[in-house]
Amino acid sequence: MDTVQAYIKTHKDRFLNELIELLKIPSISADSAYKNDVLKAAEAVKTSLENAGCDTVEICKTDGYPIVYGEKTIDPNLPTVLVYGHYDVQPPDPLDLWHSPPFEPVIKTTNKHPEGAIFARGACDDKGQMYMHVKAMEFMTSTNQLPCNVKFMIEGEEEVGSPNLAIFVKNNQDKLKNDVILISDTGMIANDTPSITTGLRGLSYVEVEVTGPNRDLHSGLYGGAVANPINVLTKMIASLHDENNHITIPGFYDKVEVLSDEERAEMAKAPFNLDNYKNALDIADVYGETGYSTNERTSIRPTLDVNGIWGGYTGEGAKTVIASKAYAKISMRLVPHQDWEEITQLFQTHFESIAPKAVKVKVTPHHGGQGYVTPIDSIGYQAASKAYQDAFGKTPIPQRSGGSIPIVSLFEQELKSKTILMGFGLDSDAIHSPNEHFGVWNYLKGIETIPLFYKYFTELSK
Ligand code: BES
Ligand code: MN
Ligand code: MN
Repeated sequence: MDTVQAYIKTHKDRFLNELIELLKIPSISADSAYKNDVLKAAEAVKTSLENAGCDTVEICKTDGYPIVYGEKTIDPNLPTVLVYGHYDVQPPDPLDLWHSPPFEPVIKTTNKHPEGAIFARGACDDKGQMYMHVKAMEFMTSTNQLPCNVKFMIEGEEEVGSPNLAIFVKNNQDKLKNDVILISDTGMIANDTPSITTGLRGLSYVEVEVTGPNRDLHSGLYGGAVANPINVLTKMIASLHDENNHITIPGFYDKVEVLSDEERAEMAKAPFNLDNYKNALDIADVYGETGYSTNERTSIRPTLDVNGIWGGYTGEGAKTVIASKAYAKISMRLVPHQDWEEITQLFQTHFESIAPKAVKVKVTPHHGGQGYVTPIDSIGYQAASKAYQDAFGKTPIPQRSGGSIPIVSLFEQELKSKTILMGFGLDSDAIHSPNEHFGVWNYLKGIETIPLFYKYFTELSK
C-alpha cells in the first residue's frame, strides 16, 4: 500500500503545478472588476474536488460568490469531517512592492524556506492551504485509505467577511452535519516547531467620517476659526488609547476573559525570540499595552487599529486647504466573550460623544465576528496532535492566534461542532502583504499530516 510520503514523492511536481494554475486566477473578492475570475476559481475548485474522488460536487449559488460543496460518504456510521477553506484572495496592492507579479506564481528560496516557496497572492491565504486538503483527499481515495466521510465547503467571500456563508450554514444544517470541522487557514510557530491554533480573535470593523464646513476652505482665510476635520479626527483617534496603550472606550474591557497566572505561564513557554521578531520587521522596539508580552498582546488582549486614514490634499506639491471631510477605517480585534456587535455599539456611542460640536461625526459599521477558543482535550485536538507528532516527530504546541476567521464561532453555534485549526503557514509568509508566499515544504507537509488526522480522528471516535 502506498504511504503518503511515497505518494507525495511521486506526485510532487503535479501537486505544485496544479496549485500554481489555481494561483494564476486573480480571485479578488473585494474588487468587482474581478468577478469573472472569482467565478472561474470556484469552477476550478469544483473540478479539483471531482478529480480528488468526491461523489458529488456542486456550486451553490448565494447572493454573492458561490460556495463550492463536495462530499464523499463511505459509511453513515463512520464520523464525518467537514473541511472549510476559501478560494478568494486579498487585493494584491501595492503592486510596485511585489518582486514578481502577484498572479504569475514563481518558486524562490528564502531564509525560512530553503526548499523554496511559491510566491503569489493567495499562496498561503488560503489557496495553498485549502488545496492541501484536496490533494490529501486525492491520496486517501486513490489508495483506498479514506477512513471516514468527508464534506468540503469552500467559499469565495472570506476576505470580505463571509456575508453569505452565514445564511448558507443556517439554511443547510442537515447537509453540513459533521463531527468535526477542519480548517487550514492559520499558521504555525516554525517548521521545526509545529503548533496548532487554539484561538482566534473576534473583529469589529468600522468606518468613520468627520465633517466640518460644507466645502473645502482656504486655510489662510478660515484657518484657526473653523474646525479642521483632519485635525479633529486625528485628535479623536489619538484619544482612543491612554498612556499605557489601554483602549479608552468605556465598557470596552468589561467582558474580556482574564487568564489565570498559570494559563499565562503556560502560554509563555511557547518559543519566542524578541530580537528576531524586531529584526524581521526592522523595528527598534515593540509597542503595545503595558503589562503584557508581545505574544499576549497579539492573542489574549483586544486591540484597536486605524487601517487607513484620508482626507484633504494628498497630491503633488502643496495646496493650502482645510478639507470639508476626513475619514478613517478602524479595526478592533476582540477576545473571547467580547460581543462584536456590542463593541461596535460602544465604539459608536463613544466616538460620537467625544466629537466637538464644531464637527459632525458618522460611524458606519462594516463587518465583524466573534472570537473563538477551543479546548485541547477534545477528540479533534487529540487527533490533530497525534497527526503532527507522526508527521513532524514533535508534539505540537497549542497557541492562540491574533487573526480572525469569524465564521468559526458561527459554525459552533449553528452546527454544534468544534473546529480544529491545522495551519501550516508562517507569520513571515506575508499574507495580505506584497510577496505573499507559501513554503513548498509546508505545502507537502500539510498534505502528509491531513490524512493522519483523519485516521486518528476516526480511531478516537470509536
Ligand atoms: N486566514 C486569515 C486569518 C488568519 C491568518 C488567522 C493567520 C490566523 C492566522 C483570513 O483569511 C483573514 O484574513 N481574516 C481576516 C478577517 C476577515 C473578516 C476579513 C482578518 O483576520 O483580518
Ligand atoms: Mn484566510
Ligand atoms: Mn486573509
